[in-house]
Amino acid sequence: MARGKLIVFEGLDRSGKSTQCERLVSYLTEKGVPVKHRRFPDRTTPIGQMINNYLQGQTEQEDHVIHLLFSANRWEAVPSIEADINAGITVIIDRYYYSGCVYSAAKNNPSLSLSWSRHPEEGLPRPDLCLFLDISAEDAAKRGGWGEERYEKQELQDRVRQLFADMRATDDGSDFVTINAGQSLEEVASAIRQHAESCIEAKLDSSPLRRIQP
Ligand code: TMP
Ligand code: MG
Repeated sequence: MARGKLIVFEGLDRSGKSTQCERLVSYLTEKGVPVKHRRFPDRTTPIGQMINNYLQGQTEQEDHVIHLLFSANRWEAVPSIEADINAGITVIIDRYYYSGCVYSAAKNNPSLSLSWSRHPEEGLPRPDLCLFLDISAEDAAKRGGWGEERYEKQELQDRVRQLFADMRATDDGSDFVTINAGQSLEEVASAIRQHAESCIEAKLDSSPLRRIQP
């Protein structure tokens, strides 16, 4: 049996990831493609609850500690992600390790560089496709709904966007596709469907799931 694929959505807060992720999941489900939808942070686990409290400003965490909690929240899901993929299910995730690295590095803590932030992610399943919904922090903020959680500030989001670009340049960017998230919902959805379908149809069937390399 062909393995499932690992498809990830990334982007700034309010870039439309969650909406587009849901649309892709429904579209593929209707077409009979077995899919599972996940998101990180997964706030339902004990680690996820600690992250949620931090994001909502109810607790404080040292920068490296919260970084490692976000990473641990991915690692705790790995057995289940691998089991789904091995069972032929395509796993579609709203945020993954790119967010993990860039949001932490955007804090400008001198001992928390982009390269430091990537180390705990080494060995995680590597996405077959990463869909980056690109929008400026200014345009994202115009969509409303910012200001409720810790990182929803324009200055930090500007750095996050730059760091996404830096990461794409230094990481193996071959599976990374940038989509202009300023287009209409329909245009964005159609671009996403095209990339996702060609990823799902790609003859990677005999290739095992890869790992994030050092
Ligand atoms: P959400 O808005 O997608 O629920 O994500 C909550 C916030 O957490 C968002 O501002 C991005 C941030 N984040 C990290 O800082 N590190 C991570 O590893 C992840 C997955 C998200
Ligand atoms: Mg958010």
